Amino acid sequence: MPEPLQQQPRSTEAAGPIGNGGYGSPGTTPSGTNDEHSAARAVERMFDDIAPRYDFLNHTLSMNVDRLWWRSAARSFRHILQKDHARVLDLCAGTGDMAVALRAVSAQPGSGAAIYALDFSHQMLQHGLEKYSRKNIQPLEADALQLPLRDASMDLVVSAFGFRNLANYEAGLHEIFRALKPLGEVGILEFSEPGGLLGKLYGFYFRKVLPRIGTIISGVRGPYEYLPASVHKFPAPPQMLNRMEAAGFKDVSWTPYTFGIAGLFRGRK
Ligand SMILES: C[S@@+](CC[C@H](N)C(=O)[O-])C[C@H]1O[C@@H](n2cnc3c(N)ncnc32)[C@H](O)[C@@H]1O
Repeated sequence: MPEPLQQQPRSTEAAGPIGNGGYGSPGTTPSGTNDEHSAARAVERMFDDIAPRYDFLNHTLSMNVDRLWWRSAARSFRHILQKDHARVLDLCAGTGDMAVALRAVSAQPGSGAAIYALDFSHQMLQHGLEKYSRKNIQPLEADALQLPLRDASMDLVVSAFGFRNLANYEAGLHEIFRALKPLGEVGILEFSEPGGLLGKLYGFYFRKVLPRIGTIISGVRGPYEYLPASVHKFPAPPQMLNRMEAAGFKDVSWTPYTFGIAGLFRGRK
């Protein structure tokens, strides 16, 4: 069973706008950070800061396409979600829209899937509490790199737009692998950088327009500049699939969503 909420230690390090960091980083590197610990604290602080406006901004900036992505990802795990007593983790759950989509698919008469929503941002979880309690989802405040879960305890781990923010991708994959039961499955929904003309047009929106609107509406400078930088730094699909295999996952695949703006990585333990 997951343990009760774990409070993470806080730091006073500020989250700057963007950057690739000056160290050989194994994961995300918000500007001004110089090791994994400071990167993680900067990410946590960023999401704490934007939590009150996160849902509104998400739906506005994606023109509601994000809802289709969550639903598609959830539907592709129907075979697990509708199993009796399935145990499912939404990793980096934030305010809970992925977890709610998972619940919508699992909600069949007789199905007793337990869904946990884990995040280290206290504010993001707080802003999702109403959804969590309405949909019978258990929030867990903890770090994705130190899951408060027993080995081989989950049937499915899904992460939507959160994995890219980890300070160490390899450690994140190993932690997911550890928590999954044999034959358990992982789904990682992440942004990507599509090629071609559409990619160029979208790139202009994503790098130039979205950060400005996001900064104006959220009133917080940094997070919406960090977003395109973190996507640019995230491994491209072939590299990510290699990393998943190196972590032990089998049958790995990537399914592009909406011309490859986003996509779902899948694998099996
Ligand atoms: C872009 S939000 C995505 C939230 C939600 N999954 C969605 O689709 O809207 C990324 C989330 O990942 C969380 N996160 C990033 N690194 C984390 C870590 N190491 N442990 C737990 N949560 C983390 C952040 O706090 C944030 O809530």
